[in-house]
Amino acid sequence: MKPSDEIIAEHEAVLKVLDILGIICDESSELPQMPLAHIEYIIDFFSIFVDKCHHGKEEDILFPELYIVGTPRQKNFVGFLIKEHQKARVLVQEMLETIKVMKGADGLLTTPASEAAADKLIAVSRSYINLMRFHINNENQNLLPLIEKLFSRAKQDEFLTLFEQLESERIGNGLHQNFHNMINKLSLIYFS
Ligand SMILES: [Fe+2]
Ligand SMILES: [Fe+2]
Repeated sequence: MKPSDEIIAEHEAVLKVLDILGIICDESSELPQMPLAHIEYIIDFFSIFVDKCHHGKEEDILFPELYIVGTPRQKNFVGFLIKEHQKARVLVQEMLETIKVMKGADGLLTTPASEAAADKLIAVSRSYINLMRFHINNENQNLLPLIEKLFSRAKQDEFLTLFEQLESERIGNGLHQNFHNMINKLSLIYFS
């Protein structure tokens, strides 16, 4: 197992959840009520699994090392990816704030205010989906080959050990498994 394999496996999980959120956005325009519990699970996944853990592995472990050995062009690339993480963070925050308004209205789209919040939630979700699909594709195509090219096998093994430490400190094994269970549960509902 290489660090790039671990990052790719996490990207696959994120892409699956983005697809589920996309289906929820498409279906929501025909429903009187949004599936807020499912959206809340998904937002939790974005803020904990994706931001704290996955972006943490990239920002705190891979990017600093890449920044040390990289050419000016590669350093700019790292800066670009960090800016996208920051944009993703802002969008997740907006989703959280909008869902608070929706919950205040019991998720029922019966008032102009709750309808406006639902529209905003869908728009922000779509922005996040587009941003993250582009970001993941860019990392798979351009970041991961760079990690494999620039670092020795021993250094890559060191990254894997640091990934494991970061994951157990930030989310722990139990929560990691809970997220995978949640993805399986939502996949059964939305992909069947
Ligand atoms: Fe990233
Ligand atoms: Fe990533």
